[in-house]
Amino acid sequence: MKKILFGLTMLMSLNVSAQNPVYLDETKPVEERIEDALKRMTLREKINVIHAQSKFSSAGVPRLGIPELWTDDGPHGIRAEVLWDQWNQAGWTNDSIVAFPALTCLAATWNPEMALLYGESIGEEARYRNKSVLLGPGVNINRSPLNGRSFEYMGEDPYLSSKMVVPYVQGVQSKGVATCVKHFALNNSETNRNNENVVLDDRALYEIYLPAFKAAVIEGKTWSIMGSYNLYQNQHACHNKRLLVDILKGEWGFDGVVISDWGGVHNTMEAITNGMDLEFGTWTNGLTEGASNAYDNYYLAVPYLKLIQSGKVTTAELDEKVRRVLRLIYRTAMNKNRPYGNICSEAHYAAAQKIGEEGIVLLQNKNKILPIDLNKAKKILVVGENAIKMMTVGGGSSSLKAQHEILPLDGLKMRIGDRAKVVYARGYVGDPTGSYNNVTTGQDLNDSRTPAELIAEATMEAADADYVIFIGGLNKSNHQDAEGADRLQYDLPYNQSDVINALSKVNKNIIVVNISGNAVAMPWRNEVSAIVQDWYLGSQAGLSLASVLMGDVNPSGKLPYTIYEKLEDCSAHSVGEFVNERRKQVYDVHYKEGIFVGYRYTDMQKKVQPAFPFGYGLSYTTFTYGKPVADAKTMTADGKLIVTVTVKNTGTREGQEVVQLYIADKKSSLPRPVKELKGFQKVRLAAGESKEVSFTIEKEALSFFDDMKHAWVAEPGKFEAIIAASATDIKGVVPFELK
Ligand code: BGC
Repeated sequence: MKKILFGLTMLMSLNVSAQNPVYLDETKPVEERIEDALKRMTLREKINVIHAQSKFSSAGVPRLGIPELWTDDGPHGIRAEVLWDQWNQAGWTNDSIVAFPALTCLAATWNPEMALLYGESIGEEARYRNKSVLLGPGVNINRSPLNGRSFEYMGEDPYLSSKMVVPYVQGVQSKGVATCVKHFALNNSETNRNNENVVLDDRALYEIYLPAFKAAVIEGKTWSIMGSYNLYQNQHACHNKRLLVDILKGEWGFDGVVISDWGGVHNTMEAITNGMDLEFGTWTNGLTEGASNAYDNYYLAVPYLKLIQSGKVTTAELDEKVRRVLRLIYRTAMNKNRPYGNICSEAHYAAAQKIGEEGIVLLQNKNKILPIDLNKAKKILVVGENAIKMMTVGGGSSSLKAQHEILPLDGLKMRIGDRAKVVYARGYVGDPTGSYNNVTTGQDLNDSRTPAELIAEATMEAADADYVIFIGGLNKSNHQDAEGADRLQYDLPYNQSDVINALSKVNKNIIVVNISGNAVAMPWRNEVSAIVQDWYLGSQAGLSLASVLMGDVNPSGKLPYTIYEKLEDCSAHSVGEFVNERRKQVYDVHYKEGIFVGYRYTDMQKKVQPAFPFGYGLSYTTFTYGKPVADAKTMTADGKLIVTVTVKNTGTREGQEVVQLYIADKKSSLPRPVKELKGFQKVRLAAGESKEVSFTIEKEALSFFDDMKHAWVAEPGKFEAIIAASATDIKGVVPFELK
């Protein structure tokens, strides 16, 4: 009888689950489905889903029909398929994509709508390529212009990067693809990224380095986040109790997956207990680099299994990790409603071009030399390697296989047509190579002429040119804007400054276009007419640049970071520490500058003025600001204050202005920056048009992080709402009091 009953129960339960397994039932809440799936999984299956099975994928649960999780870089386009167990591209012919502008450019648009457009577009590309997780965006703070990866991030200010990362995340995830916001946290340099232990105070941590991550988690609701390589409190960020358990999952209530940076896990026990959920890219000892990646030897693979089997740890943490991974799979690969996506559509190219156009920053424009007037130009000379060098290949993991990349010189020629003669001179030779993980540009940029010969050719051509456009800057080669190593100098590399100086001696109409993802020294800036901060703009690079230079588009980008006159003007180098030589052992790097990063530092300096400040950028039109007014003289901690200013386009063509709100705390118990960005709005104004721009100030904008209380505090007292067009161009100040 017992046997029959047992059999019947078995049959019934099997029957029920076969017909209607909860984990597959879309009408059931996801959390219920997760618990059901979890119950059905064997120990080995659970272990399998929390570490990689190939370079970019982890196993699902094939027996249960739960799909694999496919990830891919990120953050500027969807990286080419690589071989199962090697970094080299797989050689597919259907994985060429649109390269979008680098994230520095996105930040320079100061336009959250552009971030949403970016997210939606790249999300569609990821989805079409069948990726569930896009490894990006990056929001590490630009602490030093030498950081090799700044181009993948959104500048120096936590408020700006917070406002820009949220719509990016929302855009991508609206397509059923998870963002993996990286690199959490404090990964602000590359050279020793694996062995640098960051030492900083809690104020800097909470006020400067965490806000963009917090915004991505709490407002953007990112489904995954990437632990970084460096250490903090002498523990690797990928299994860092404070960062992952206390802050991310504790204070912020993150319910997604912590994915390790590739090879960022170093210890099984810490990874088990300190919040690491999904391990990727580890090169295990003995079976290392180059050979098989030996997935079973990952810290969260067999070593973990053995600890459980030997009773040293329970499955409690494992179940929690699996729940999170399953949640991620439900949100992405198992979401039947997610759209199908597409790549290389006209809409995506248009988005890439538009974001590029909005991000380009006009830094200097003497005698209104720009936009270029084709009625006055017979000969336009273009000089410089960056005019002809592909930038979508190189730079590290963000390297792409773009379907096309329109180079600056080609973009200009396409736009100018036969209305003027466009002549090119190389000017200097930087890095003529161009390949990454077997994706090659196919360009042969070798040139055996000496620097003197190249300069002689350029100056000879410049002598009778109506305009000289020098297109240089950094590139994606090692020690430039590239992963794995930082820049070695703040100056432009190769001998570009010599070329610019030589050109400026023979022609007055020099326009310098600096392509980079970091600030560079511009010692020649008074010798040239115009300076344009261009970025790595991806597929449509040449067209975006041409639109701005020719005036089809009125520039409206603003700097997302300070361009210092010299490197020592940057606090990480003058007050703090920045280690630039390779070290093998773990060492401490002290962020002694604390919260005084970027303009928060230069604002305090009486003698030091930036070459171009944070938030700065010119337009082909002009704007005037009225006197800002507040709706009250005081506000309470649970109230608000509305500050309004009228902005007028006083020029002759339509343009966009980024109106910035900074808050100054006049007296506080802890040191505070002179002022901090707490609001911005990009407004489009027709010639002659005026608009009122309003900012609502709440307690949050007045608060600082009190490290003794471990809380955000707004102290009653006097404040100022500062309306500005950049960190140094103050248009009006409204004093008020917090009661
Ligand atoms: C980078 C990550 C990247 C990963 C996978 C790592 O080296 O730091 O940003 O997503 O590789 O390519």
